[in-house]
Amino acid sequence: MLTEMTGAATEGRGRLLGKSAVITGAAFGIGRATAVLFAREGARLVVTDIQGEPLLALAEELRHSGAQVETVVGDVSVQNDAERMIRAAVDRFGRLDVLVANAGIIPLGDVQEVTATDWDNVMAIDGRGMFLTCRFAIEAMLPTGGGAIVCLSSISGLAGQKRQAAYGPAKFIATGLTKHLAVEWADRGIRVNAVAPGTIRTERVERLPEEPGGSEYLAAVERMHPMGRIGEPAEVASAIVFLASDDASFITGAVLPVDGGYLAQ
Ligand SMILES: NC(=O)c1ccc[n+]([C@@H]2O[C@H](COP(=O)([O-])OP(=O)(O)OC[C@H]3O[C@@H](n4cnc5c(N)ncnc54)[C@H](O)[C@@H]3O)[C@@H](O)[C@H]2O)c1
Repeated sequence: MLTEMTGAATEGRGRLLGKSAVITGAAFGIGRATAVLFAREGARLVVTDIQGEPLLALAEELRHSGAQVETVVGDVSVQNDAERMIRAAVDRFGRLDVLVANAGIIPLGDVQEVTATDWDNVMAIDGRGMFLTCRFAIEAMLPTGGGAIVCLSSISGLAGQKRQAAYGPAKFIATGLTKHLAVEWADRGIRVNAVAPGTIRTERVERLPEEPGGSEYLAAVERMHPMGRIGEPAEVASAIVFLASDDASFITGAVLPVDGGYLAQ
């Protein structure tokens, strides 16, 4: 099961050996694939999500493979919950080395279709939630000399796309937060980078055909990726591991496309 989920990923090389990491939105999709790969690379994990049952199931799976795993069920947009997620790593592992700020929702629609509520929700979770978890993570990293944060931006956080009138601007926040925090904390040993995935075959994307116009949208988006396919969660997880690891020791403020060439056009 774990091997299937990480796709092309090979045996762990210990690139995150002993590092204490928090991953938000770990129950499904990119967050889940990242948790699996982090465990394989030797990280000690706090996996967090708003959905308790699938999160606990993931944690059980990871423990069976030998990983040290803590869980926190909570909502990243709620200040106390965000703080609990970070504190869990310090309480259990004595430090925080890595945050993957991944939790998010993806409401699709043009500016006539999405509502003010859609806007508020995506800004609360993808925007405020990322701000809060980064804020508490930086506070936790400072006493031990630094760490690495990887935020989930998107191709929609670097370029315009159709039907992303609320989601796209929220991902521009991820890009902006990454660059500003990178500069703000570079001299204190904290690196802040982002990945900008193209369309990735996660649970969210697999539900698209259930939405009006969803199938057509997905087919069109697939054609827009020069590689002629959408990506797999494990392909994003690999890039996140790199940015979180010491292999990326001189990289901060970068927004790395993981998009099959989408942004190169
Ligand atoms: N799938 C894509 O095509 C794609 C592309 C670019 C960027 N991204 C970004 O990657 C991240 C993950 O997306 P995904 O496709 O894996 O989505 P997903 O829906 O498959 O998984 C998102 C996870 O976040 C959790 N979550 C949602 N709201 C939360 C909250 N308030 N607090 C805590 N957890 C919450 C969900 O329960 C779920 O487990 C998002 O930030 C998204 O914007 C996804």
